[in-house]
Amino acid sequence: MAERLASSASLLPSAASPSSSTRRAAVASGLRLRPSPSRFSQAARRVRGGAGAAGVVPRLRVVRCMAASEAAQLKSAREDIKEILKTTYCHPILVRLGWHDSGTYDKNIEEWPQRGGADGSLRFDPELSHGANAGLTNALKLIQPIKDKYPGITYADLFQLASATAIEEAGGPKLPMKYGRVDITAPEQCPPEGRLPDAGPRLPAEHLREVFYRMGLDDKEIVALSGAHTLGRSRPDRSGWGKPETKYTKDGPGEPGGQSWTAEWLKFDNSYFKDIKEQRDQELLVLPTDAALFDDPSFKVYAEKYAEDQEAFFKDYAEAHAKLSNLGAKFDPPEVSPPSSHVHA
Ligand code: HEM
Repeated sequence: MAERLASSASLLPSAASPSSSTRRAAVASGLRLRPSPSRFSQAARRVRGGAGAAGVVPRLRVVRCMAASEAAQLKSAREDIKEILKTTYCHPILVRLGWHDSGTYDKNIEEWPQRGGADGSLRFDPELSHGANAGLTNALKLIQPIKDKYPGITYADLFQLASATAIEEAGGPKLPMKYGRVDITAPEQCPPEGRLPDAGPRLPAEHLREVFYRMGLDDKEIVALSGAHTLGRSRPDRSGWGKPETKYTKDGPGEPGGQSWTAEWLKFDNSYFKDIKEQRDQELLVLPTDAALFDDPSFKVYAEKYAEDQEAFFKDYAEAHAKLSNLGAKFDPPEVSPPSSHVHA
């Protein structure tokens, strides 16, 4: 626990704030950081020096919170994740891990962590054993050694870092991510089962809207995010959906089997929308919720656009993914500046 003093107007830099050399190294490697602590040091000096310019002593209050993930560790962890991706081809399941941690968010609940979202709760058994999370224990096993190596990174951040790195390494767009998510600390804080979407509901479009609107996401974001199924496979022994194997999956790479939505299921592009639209190849998967994207008139506008225009898909996907990754998250320090100046992957 980091204990920090804050004036009623601004926060002082945390003991865990990255040093200027860390900051330089991280920026050079593509990680963008929070604003320099120097911005806050003037306030700090005023507080330490007693009376401020106007001779008024700022009122102090003690703020207790978890230390944010450290920038240098985030940078190294990203390199380690890239190595795992190269050797195990686990891009899809890491994307699913990040999405299932954040996708439990309920915008109608104000309190953290009851509202769910990107808070690392998926590491705990009660949530990992939810039906929708079948198979994700394998993703956690891949991530745990990285967590052990970088204790300064929270699970919540690591899940999102792994997912974003997987998208980018698979050829997807650069994602405007930020880091500093706080973890829940006990299994009792996990969200209840049933907040993630069902692949075969009676009314797929209505169901998608019910679930994603609850997260504060709109039709465009539902369609863009569904495009993540350009990666990966469905396995009957996990979700119950898909064939045990197809000509595209019988030899892997990675563990063979399952049914993919696209032929090149380790490449992030707009082929998902093209394939769902055509539905010509019986070897490829179309879930009822995937088909809804071309059946529903409002979804269809975006699905058609993304099938035609990969650039438009990448742009909307990047924004929607970053938004999804922040759902319900509590950031430490709390956001005191525009999100664009936070850490990016
Ligand atoms: C729109 C509602 C969605 C439904 C109903 C749905 C359902 C499913 C199902 C049934 C699977 C197969 C799991 C298995 O058998 O292992 C799956 C896999 C996957 N989902 Fe979704 N999903 C949805 C949205 C999303 C979103 C928003 C993302 C990410 C942004 C995503 C990313 C993935 C990925 C990457 C896989 C492949 C995992 C692997 O190969 O191990 N899905 N999804």
